[in-house]
Amino acid sequence: MTADYKKGFADQTKVITVPSLEVEGVIPDWLSGTLVRNGPARFHLNDKTLNHWFDGLAMLHKFDIADGHVSYANKFLDTPAFRAAKDGKMKYAEFATDPCRNLFKRIAQIFTGSASGANANVSIGRVADEFVAQTESPMPVAFDKYTLKTIGIVSYSDKLKGQLTTAHPHYDQDSHEAFNYLLNFGFKSTYQIYKLPDGSKRRQPIGSYSTDRPSYMHSFGLSQNYVILMEFPLVVNPLSMLIRGKPFIANYQRGTRFSLVDRRRGEVQYAHTDEAWFGFHHVNAVDRESKIDLDIIVYPNADVVQHFYLNSLLNKPDHETYPKNELRRFTIDVPAGTVSSRTLVDYSAELPRINYEQCNSKTYQHVYASGVAKKGESPFLDTVVKFDLAGGVKEWRQHGQYPGEPVYVARPDGQSEDDGILLTVVLDADANNSYLLLLDARDLSEIARARVPQHVPFGFHGAYIRS
Ligand code: CO
Repeated sequence: MTADYKKGFADQTKVITVPSLEVEGVIPDWLSGTLVRNGPARFHLNDKTLNHWFDGLAMLHKFDIADGHVSYANKFLDTPAFRAAKDGKMKYAEFATDPCRNLFKRIAQIFTGSASGANANVSIGRVADEFVAQTESPMPVAFDKYTLKTIGIVSYSDKLKGQLTTAHPHYDQDSHEAFNYLLNFGFKSTYQIYKLPDGSKRRQPIGSYSTDRPSYMHSFGLSQNYVILMEFPLVVNPLSMLIRGKPFIANYQRGTRFSLVDRRRGEVQYAHTDEAWFGFHHVNAVDRESKIDLDIIVYPNADVVQHFYLNSLLNKPDHETYPKNELRRFTIDVPAGTVSSRTLVDYSAELPRINYEQCNSKTYQHVYASGVAKKGESPFLDTVVKFDLAGGVKEWRQHGQYPGEPVYVARPDGQSEDDGILLTVVLDADANNSYLLLLDARDLSEIARARVPQHVPFGFHGAYIRS
């Protein structure tokens, strides 16, 4: 077993522009647009080292695809966090230089907003006319999609207040609105669910509810009728912050609560299960009469956050595998407030995508993700997987190749939900560089690859922007 995936956590400080990448295979003529990827790229700052994969300084990467050619460019996001690092000043809490490698401390930083500095290294989105890099503090950073130059932190033209949001807003193709939540942390913490119409910087509140013990949620679900917040048992007690000056986070909520916010009326209902899980990524949520099917990748507990400390990732023995997870369906009976659940696909994977343009909050069949080789025997994500919810798993895997999130691009006039291409950036550990891989989403057969002359560090999420 190889440990070569560790090269994906090496710093990349070289900022380059390559007008035409070397291409193997044939890029389809119809594919014309830009894939922008976001992720951490620098963990070593002068004499300090950042401790966690989620903490590295944000770098944007873009692949422009047109007429069968691919160009590449990368740039650091120019934020207060980035400038503080350049100055050698450890101003922001994501520079977790303290030796306390503690899961709860890590999440407490996210909760209290002390991990600010606008190091927006998680995903790519859009606010009004600007493309933005996003993280969990509510400070999206706008950038120019042609040059990747940072424009600045977007200020909203409303009065909503809060310290925590998600880097995974949902976009409704029919209403042309993005949905997200904003948590205002305090003695009583309030989840404010809002929508942001196309072209607007004014967030419109839909509904809100307060809680004594807010939960850490990386994403949420959106069905046709509801915004669904799946509150894992990992919660924070704000009272301890007021008394002791620091928040106390623990698994002391029994089971899992689902908060269902009616998208039109703003009313909030709750459902509950004694099952306890942890997860990052919701895949989809679909109304079924008075029930909701909520599909999410879940881990048995939140230890996975601990696993993503660089120290763990870089020093773990080769036989230690990626933490086990599964795609699970929670069926919420809305009037009864009860929840049942079952395994949809028993295969460890992360960074899931579907054909969101066609299927978000609607019936769907196919999930694409970065997976862990069959039976979970690999130490890191090393496979592109496709889950067919009607049955069956397809895989793309090659020795020493480590693919990230696969982004689905529909073929114009495509005939089916999966009639399109997957775009994913793959680390080639032997060559010590990376390439953009194009797969046929129907069967994961390889169409082409376009090689970057250096490595692209493992990132999180990206977006495809049509030309
Ligand atoms: Co994410």
